[in-house]
Amino acid sequence: MLRGNKELWVAFIVMVMITTLYGVVLFFTREIPPASELFGHGIGIVGFVFMLLTETLYSLRKRTRSVKWGRMSTWLQLHIFTGLVGPYMVLLHTSWKFNGIAGATTLLTIIIVVSGFIGRYIFTRIPRTLDGLEIEGTLSQEALKQARRLMALWHTVHIPIGMALFISAFVHVGAALYYATFLK
Ligand code: HEM
Ligand code: HEM
Repeated sequence: MLRGNKELWVAFIVMVMITTLYGVVLFFTREIPPASELFGHGIGIVGFVFMLLTETLYSLRKRTRSVKWGRMSTWLQLHIFTGLVGPYMVLLHTSWKFNGIAGATTLLTIIIVVSGFIGRYIFTRIPRTLDGLEIEGTLSQEALKQARRLMALWHTVHIPIGMALFISAFVHVGAALYYATFLK
């Protein structure tokens, strides 16, 4: 079960801290941090690592039920935390320019975050134990069936968007490193 909004609040506080740091860099350098220089590049790399963790960790834990490393609900909270903070850092990395494949990657990133919120909303409609297993009986059967169907449909949209996102991100990273970093 995903109780309360704790992970959303923690993510929000961390995002405020990152924004403050961004503001300090902006103040001292008097320019929008460029995507290819120390701060802008660094925040892009760390944000991307967070996004990779979002894509992999929860799915891995979900599929290894024999080894119980922490509750599913905690892993989902971590998924949501890194799934918000990572994209936010990547957004600050863009230097507010959205050309070509990098722009398309940003768009896919925004879409997956919005889709995540929709999934979170449907997910919390289905009653579960702390370990994420569904519980029968709390909701009327019809409503429960509908929520499950919606969740399944949501998965068929959310997962391919994630894959498209990482393919385009790797193309961007390869091209950016080649043209903007190594050829300099
Ligand atoms: C999902 C993750 C990422 C997204 C959405 C993203 C997005 C962007 C965007 C929108 C730009 C600006 C493009 C423009 O000038 O119009 C940019 C620039 C850049 N990005 Fe990323 N980025 C991501 C991850 C990374 C990572 C991990 C690296 C490095 C390892 C990286 C390296 C760069 C570099 C070097 C530039 C500057 C390119 C130049 O000055 O021409 N990016 N990125
Ligand atoms: C970089 C951003 C994100 C990526 C790449 C991503 C990727 C994924 C993937 C691959 C899954 C499928 C897990 C599985 O069934 O194996 C998933 C599930 C899920 N994600 Fe995300 N996600 C992101 C952000 C978010 C955000 C921001 C939220 C909430 C606000 C969210 C909420 C969920 C929920 C509720 C599930 C369903 C859990 C389940 O059915 O067990 N995600 N995500």
